[in-house]
Amino acid sequence: MDQGDTDNVHFPHRHLLGIEGLLPEEISILLDRSESYVDQNRRADKTTPLLHGRTIINLFFEDSTRTRTSFELAGKRLGGDMINMSVATSSVKKGETLTDTAMTLNAMHPDVLVVRHPDSGAVKLLSEKVNCAVINGGDGSHEHPTQALLDALTIRRRRGTLSGLLVAICGDITHSRVARSNIYLLNTMGARVRLIAPKTLIPPEAERLGVEVFHDMETGIKDCDIVMMLRLQRERMSGNFLPSIREYFHFFGLDYEKLANAKDDALIMHPGPMNRGVEIDTDVADDVGRSVIREQVEMGVAVRMAVLELLALNPDNGGNA
Ligand code: NCD
Repeated sequence: MDQGDTDNVHFPHRHLLGIEGLLPEEISILLDRSESYVDQNRRADKTTPLLHGRTIINLFFEDSTRTRTSFELAGKRLGGDMINMSVATSSVKKGETLTDTAMTLNAMHPDVLVVRHPDSGAVKLLSEKVNCAVINGGDGSHEHPTQALLDALTIRRRRGTLSGLLVAICGDITHSRVARSNIYLLNTMGARVRLIAPKTLIPPEAERLGVEVFHDMETGIKDCDIVMMLRLQRERMSGNFLPSIREYFHFFGLDYEKLANAKDDALIMHPGPMNRGVEIDTDVADDVGRSVIREQVEMGVAVRMAVLELLALNPDNGGNA
């Protein structure tokens, strides 16, 4: 796909705050556009001037390795001006409210703000205060839409489709925005989702999300096409959710014995950061035949290029394709 094709692609939203509510065809627009960037990212010259003159600000109120770097690379490869705001050294530390920070940045006329925040709903609140496009880079335990899109792109490239696949999402579902965005996306695209976790790590609303819930790995993983493991998000846990890490790994950590219940060619996924020996056995994580964890990271840059492009050039955002 060359740059000229942008004219024909329209994503009918000003912001990307979550996957919930997106139509299957809107998700497909994002995935198809992402696909066109995968090859570009494998070339020696990875840049295009599509977003020349546009300003994108990464505003991360929480730690991040891959999401922040990935957005930064994506913005740069599209020729945009990419700024990283370090909250640790910003006025937020001086007591500025989220709204005031948003208004301040807004006055500098950015075209896109990429925001990660520890509170669910904070990114939506911020999007209501600014004139530019806002992308949710993860808000509390609510949503992480670009992660679900990159997971979907990884699966679609390996399996050709999402529809009809049986996907197990295992681990700390309660605290996981990755799980929520994936559940919405996979359900919308016709996959079937199983959640596998101890009772303490399954949120009460799980039944309403259109998933099947399992509390033991062997049964839950049975015949699955995809096994997606999640980190125990201890920074979000108040109190004791688990007796011990050793016991958790014994019952819920993905090792070859448990994996044997899935389909023979089941793919292993993890959004990172991984805790080896906690939710996943180190050999399973590094299994080149089965694990697509590195590929997920690669797809992340392509997905973020597509999202940045489609939002920054959206005429509804004042963008001019
Ligand atoms: C996840 C996140 O921050 O929500 N990581 C990521 O963005 N790849 C998952 C996690 O922190 O465990």
